[in-house]
Formats: sequence, structure tokens, C-alpha cells
Amino acid sequence: MKRALTRIVNWSHDLIAEVVNSGDLVVDLTAGKGQDVLALFQMVGPPGQVIAFDIQAKALASTKSLLEGRGASVRFSPVDEQPVSSRAGIALVETSHAQLDCYIAGKPRGIIANLGYLPGGDQDIITRPQSTVTALEQASSLLDIGGRVAVTAYPDHPGGDEEATAVTKFFTNLPEHIFYVLQLKVSNRPKSPFLFVAEKLI
Ligand SMILES: C[S@@+](CC[C@H](N)C(=O)[O-])C[C@H]1O[C@@H](n2cnc3c(N)ncnc32)[C@H](O)[C@@H]1O
Repeated sequence: MKRALTRIVNWSHDLIAEVVNSGDLVVDLTAGKGQDVLALFQMVGPPGQVIAFDIQAKALASTKSLLEGRGASVRFSPVDEQPVSSRAGIALVETSHAQLDCYIAGKPRGIIANLGYLPGGDQDIITRPQSTVTALEQASSLLDIGGRVAVTAYPDHPGGDEEATAVTKFFTNLPEHIFYVLQLKVSNRPKSPFLFVAEKLI
């Protein structure tokens, strides 16, 4: 089947799926409407665990409804800065991804972040450079060896360009003996979303 060449988010799913297996632990830093959580759930299957963060209750409610409709076991984890218990299914945490390392006890094989605002939601509630970079620092430290973190940045909304610049700086500065870093962008459309994927080597 012909694939949509410029659908960057599809590439992020494919590149995470290459290193994730059934039963693994994976994380979504921005649950939103749950499309990325669904993709992760399909990678890890019912024995795996997906932990997803969002600061908006309505985003997590959408994610819950989508995933339950696909047969996943979904629960809300308490916001108490304690690690989410290791249990198969989807765990939703209503807090900032900047708190990531308080909530993740294991070594995720895949971590995904689709930045920006909730599609169809309030466009003033966006991911922000400082908390995004804090989350990425923690994500790259928590990541399992051989695991990948994939981030899609959106330079085309107010505040998005600043965040895209911070994300680019973060990935560009990852030490080359610890990470391979790939960037995928639509070269003739500079305001299009673009993707970074980092794989942990040691
Ligand atoms: C582009 S949407 C995510 C799309 C989503 N992954 C999907 O598949 O539908 C970005 C989401 O990031 C959330 N967000 C913004 N700041 C955040 C933060 N500091 N921590 C966690 N989520 C945040 C927003 O509420 C919004 O739902």
C-alpha cells in the first residue's frame, strides 16, 4: 500500500515499533486524543504496559474512551509522585511530563511525544520548551538500552517555533557515543512538523 510520505507521525510509530515487542513498557508523554497510545498499545499488546501523561483531564478521557473501545484495560494512576505500578494495560497520569521520573520505575523500550496542542482543543494549552526539554532529559535517561524516543515538533503554531528550536538543540547535543539521532523533515516545507528519533546505544 502506498504510504503518505509526509505523515510524520506515522514514521514515528514505525520507528518505535522496530524496537518494541509484545509485553514491553512504553510511554506517551502527551496522550491527547489517544492515537499514539493506541499505536503503542498495538505494539506491546495486552501483556504490555503503556503509561501516558497529559495535563488535561479531557485529553485523558478521550484516550480512555478510545483505548477501551479497542479492548484495552485502562486505569487512572494517582497523581502522588509515586511510580506507577507495573501492571499490564494502559495507565493514565494527569500531570506534566516534566514529572516523568517520579512516575516511571522501569526501563521503557519506547517513548513518544507528539507536541503542540490538543487537536480540536484549546490552542493556548500547548507543550512548552522548558517542560518538554525537562521531560526529554528524563526520558533519555530512563530509556532502555536499544530503546528509542520519538518526538514530533510543530513549528507552525504560536510558541511552536520556540519549542521546535529547543527540541532541535536537545537532540543535536545528545552524546554520540550514547545515542544515534535521526531527524526526519519535509525539506521543502519548513513549517511542517518534523521528527527526531534517538536510539540509546549503551
Ligand atoms: C498534539 S497533542 C498530543 C496528541 C496525542 N498524542 C494523540 O495521539 O492524539 C499535545 C498534548 O500535550 C498535552 N500537554 C501540554 N503540555 C503538557 C505537559 N507539560 N505534560 C503533559 N502533556 C502536556 C496537551 O494537553 C495535548 O493534549
